[in-house]
Amino acid sequence: MKVTVRRGGEGRLTSLLAAAGFPLDLRCGGKGTCGRCRVLLTAGSWLVNGKAVDIAGEPMAVNACRTTLAGETGEVEVPELSLARGDAKSAVEWSASPLPVRAETVIGIDLGTTTVAAVKIRNGEVVARSGCFNSQNRFGDNVVTRINHAGTAEGVRELQAAAVADINVLLGELGCDGVSRIAVSGNTVMSLLLHGIDPTPIGIMPFTPPQRIFPVCDARKLGIECDAGLLTVPAIAGYVGGDLTSGIAEVGLKPGEMLVDIGTNCEIIFRTREKLYSTAAAAGPAFEGAGIECGCRAAPGAIDHWFADGSWSVLGGVDPVGLCGSALIDFLAVMREGGRLNEFGRLEPAAKSFPVAPGLAIHEWEIAQLLKAKAAVFAGIQTLAEHCGEPVGRIWLAGGFARYIDLGHAVRIGMLPECEYTVVGNTSLAGAARLAAAPERLAQLELLIDEPEDIPLNLLPEFEDNFIGALLLP
Ligand code: FES
Repeated sequence: MKVTVRRGGEGRLTSLLAAAGFPLDLRCGGKGTCGRCRVLLTAGSWLVNGKAVDIAGEPMAVNACRTTLAGETGEVEVPELSLARGDAKSAVEWSASPLPVRAETVIGIDLGTTTVAAVKIRNGEVVARSGCFNSQNRFGDNVVTRINHAGTAEGVRELQAAAVADINVLLGELGCDGVSRIAVSGNTVMSLLLHGIDPTPIGIMPFTPPQRIFPVCDARKLGIECDAGLLTVPAIAGYVGGDLTSGIAEVGLKPGEMLVDIGTNCEIIFRTREKLYSTAAAAGPAFEGAGIECGCRAAPGAIDHWFADGSWSVLGGVDPVGLCGSALIDFLAVMREGGRLNEFGRLEPAAKSFPVAPGLAIHEWEIAQLLKAKAAVFAGIQTLAEHCGEPVGRIWLAGGFARYIDLGHAVRIGMLPECEYTVVGNTSLAGAARLAAAPERLAQLELLIDEPEDIPLNLLPEFEDNFIGALLLP
């Protein structure tokens, strides 16, 4: 869409577009490294990476975070995929047991690092759903960048305000009339920030969260525009949050079963015959398309599956603009199977990149990023199972990403081990909905968080070995 911006403030294009109602996806926090804020300059005088540029004829593609308006007005073409908000509906589904039937209206919210999803429940039924991208993305795309931004009181306030603003947008869509209770489930950093608590201790060894249990309060006390009580699902550890507490409670893990939530951080819970263990492996955002030139998130225009004959399917039936995580997994599996990638992820015959669709190519250095991401997931699962000394019989896959990947391909590229799989969707949202509908469950959840023994992978030397081994493509 075409946007005219006018000079104001320091003139940075990201701020001007946000003020005009077009907030961009600032994945890397405006460092100029992720390429998610790409826009086309179509008219005006600008400073791009510090160099003066006058656009008279040909439009120029730039990172908005490195661009400043030098003249009074400028014109910009903003691609849909560069916007911070979008259709995040994929995050509002789950398959778990029915919710308790009670004659009241409540709202459950999954406050994720990337997306925020909400459901309205009446008489035990989901009556409305809503989702958006987390506008904290403008401060960075993962919990570590958010923790860094929270280094000052002002930073904590900004992050809290962003979370509250997103929740208010969703509540506006769902409607708050007659809502008696809201429950929120999220990773530990998100839950802390929602409550205005500085999460920085989680960024430093031994990653201990300042709080794992959050006060029950009036939603308005946090700035949430709804006359309802607010409950928060308690967290297990610094990197294993309330979203996983929800997941354990929803799935009801049996001995030999794991719950795995693949995201930028891969959280893993394992129930052995003896007890429950938890851990987290940093997979990075490569499968969310970040750091991959032709990568993108799952939105219209994203290639979601890529096939052996070089054809693809694209979301929204429009021209492809990039590959999202599920297609990147297909790419690795199909290319390896066809002998066009060797076990080290090098292209055969030798080449710097491989064209996947018109105007889209994957470079060898990007394949290396994907291999690191898949190796972190595999090594996390393997290391925890080895540490516990028991084999894994079944993995419950939680989270939006798992719903769309070809599981056979994920196993073939050595991202997931061979075992039984059940895909359960957004169990964090399911847990929030259940807590909102049955608030007396909070006491049980507060007991549950003391059950898992948290195993920091960085303290296990086997993790490094397993990670290096898993970098290969089988
Ligand atoms: S390149 Fe602009 S936000 Fe990352």
